[in-house]
Amino acid sequence: MIKYIDTLEGVKTKNLKGFFVGWQNPPSTEKHLEILKNSNYIVLAIDEDTGNVVGFVNALSDKTLYSYIPLIEVLPEYQGKGIATKLVNLMFEKLRHYYAIDICCDEELISFYKNFNFNKVAGMIKRNYDNQNGKSAI
Ligand SMILES: CC(C)(COP(=O)(O)OP(=O)(O)OC[C@H]1O[C@@H](n2cnc3c(N)ncnc32)[C@H](O)[C@@H]1OP(=O)(O)O)[C@@H](O)C(=O)NCCC(=O)NCCS
Repeated sequence: MIKYIDTLEGVKTKNLKGFFVGWQNPPSTEKHLEILKNSNYIVLAIDEDTGNVVGFVNALSDKTLYSYIPLIEVLPEYQGKGIATKLVNLMFEKLRHYYAIDICCDEELISFYKNFNFNKVAGMIKRNYDNQNGKSAI
């Protein structure tokens, strides 16, 4: 069974293994925990059998108008079971008072986000891959 929580209570680095699939310079589990701690909003999917996090979404905000969802990921072996859909819907509930909820995604995920009434726009991004693991963040 999967349960959904919005707190890090009881979540340790050992419960955060396997994420950032395909990243060339991924954050450690310690950095992952830090990301979740410092986010304005989080929702985690937990496998109740193992206590491990199997999916997560986080959001950052200006607490007035704009919110941004930088990361959403479900572990490969748990994909295709509706976990991301549930994570997004629970996060939307948290962000419902914002004017803007923004997400950047790859072309292949546009159909996924269109299910939630997102509109496609042009996006510009800048990435410093030396910093992808979060080691040099202040
Ligand atoms: C994208 C991701 C979070 C989806 O997780 P999931 O739990 O498998 O998604 P769901 O089971 O809720 O699927 C919802 C719908 O999206 C579709 N979908 C899921 N993953 C998809 C993908 N990678 N590409 C295209 N469509 C996808 C599913 O087919 C499903 O459609 P359906 O309802 O018509 O069957 C997961 O594939 C993932 O972690 N990918 C790697 C990280 C990533 O790309 N994150 C997004 C950054 S913007």
